[in-house]
Amino acid sequence: MNRRDFHRLGTIVLGGLIKLAVAVPAAAFLLNPLRKPGTAAEADVFEGLVALSQLKVGVPESFGIVRDQVDAWVKYPKEPAGAVWLVRQPEGAEPAVIAYSAECPHLGCAINLADDAKHFICPCHTSAFDLEGKPQNFVPPRPMDRLDVELSKDADPMVRVRFQRFRTLAEEKIPLA
Ligand code: FES
Repeated sequence: MNRRDFHRLGTIVLGGLIKLAVAVPAAAFLLNPLRKPGTAAEADVFEGLVALSQLKVGVPESFGIVRDQVDAWVKYPKEPAGAVWLVRQPEGAEPAVIAYSAECPHLGCAINLADDAKHFICPCHTSAFDLEGKPQNFVPPRPMDRLDVELSKDADPMVRVRFQRFRTLAEEKIPLA
């Protein structure tokens, strides 16, 4: 390799490195707004929803999840992001509270408590679940999605839930990335 070739090669390599140094942060900046709430980073957050003493054993109660939402490049603080159903278990049971996502595993509509309060229903395509989240017909592809729950150390513990979204129409519970 003569001196001229060596300089040409050096220029090409240096130019490539400079382009890479500019392109990688630019791509990360442009793609960042496309990340949605309910993704891995937010999935690590436990949110306090209610004091344990406020829940009645075996009586499901619904709680809204409020989050900062990102729509393309715009951030909307404190927007409704979903809902969960909490069911307090009998004294001594572990866990003390079971949390279900209110998002239907069929196509994502909101799951409600039936009028008799003995099962859950989804009005969109008639999915039905018992109070343990098990399907009662063949519409939903899987049980209601259980969420992680923890209790705070307070005398009257706070029920804290890790809200997550999962893929619809899947037989397995697959977190949305
Ligand atoms: S979305 Fe719930 S039954 Fe279809």
